[in-house]
Amino acid sequence: MSAALAVSGLVKRYGAVEALGGVDLEVGDSELVGLLGPNGAGKSTLVKIACGLVRATTGHAEVCGARAGSREARAALGYLAELFRFPGWMTADELLELHQRLAGSRGGERERGELLELVGLREARRRPVEAMSKGMQQRLGIAQALVGSPRLLLLDEPTSALDPVGRRTVRKLLEELQRRGVSVLLNSHLLSEIELVCDRVVILLGGRVVSAGTPAELARPRGVEIETDAGKRMYPEAGREDIPRLIAELVRDGKNVYGARLLTSTLEDVYVEAVGGEGS
Ligand SMILES: Nc1ncnc2c1ncn2[C@@H]1O[C@H](COP(=O)(O)OP(=O)(O)OP(=O)(O)O)[C@@H](O)[C@H]1O
Ligand SMILES: [Mg+2]
Repeated sequence: MSAALAVSGLVKRYGAVEALGGVDLEVGDSELVGLLGPNGAGKSTLVKIACGLVRATTGHAEVCGARAGSREARAALGYLAELFRFPGWMTADELLELHQRLAGSRGGERERGELLELVGLREARRRPVEAMSKGMQQRLGIAQALVGSPRLLLLDEPTSALDPVGRRTVRKLLEELQRRGVSVLLNSHLLSEIELVCDRVVILLGGRVVSAGTPAELARPRGVEIETDAGKRMYPEAGREDIPRLIAELVRDGKNVYGARLLTSTLEDVYVEAVGGEGS
């Protein structure tokens, strides 16, 4: 089966601005990929090309084996835009009904009920959008993207307006979707969130991929920290296998050892290294 999203040699120029400078990226079946990068890195441009909203200058983008922008490709994906706005007078249920009509979904009331339940908005199904908080609207936006059971979900910063509980709802939702075999490409600036939920991370900088891998692959060892009577001491060159020897030496020197910790870089460290402190 072809990948949910396959992008190769993707270039996009807006006049003199090069938003993408030759990007290769794949999102496999049931895979959750996090797309990171500073403001202006080209994340939204990539997602918009996958949706068929923006045309690539050169290169290829395919959704489930169909050319991005084609009817088959659009039918296979769900999309939540970065800056979306729904009509304020529409209720949650009406909005989903409209999207069912747009997407040609025959799921009816049952699908709408399930989706509202999935994003924790069942109680608010008759509430107009204008009477919803930003976080509720964002969750409704995710439900909207899921109308018609797409194989690929493209979420452009879906948790930017959510409080910690709302974010957790979305995280659980993403895990559930993964169990159902949905593939997800997720843009976000919330690194800790990406680290928790994504199988793979791709970091863009100036329209190019500067780093990619699983969070575990990207996290580099950063030495060992040991706490004794004299406080915490760092052994930057040491690894896991050095810990017993280091502790034995300290004990031999008459120190009490209270703890030893193997340090690895967080996704934030990896990110800051990859983008070189750029962005705003
Ligand atoms: N329609 C457009 N016309 C001209 N330039 C554009 C257009 N859309 C995006 N750009 C430029 O392309 C580059 C990439 O923008 P893009 O929106 O893809 O970045 P991003 O990574 O999504 O940023 P952010 O984190 O701020 O959402 C930027 O330099 C931006 O100014
Ligand atoms: Mg963006």
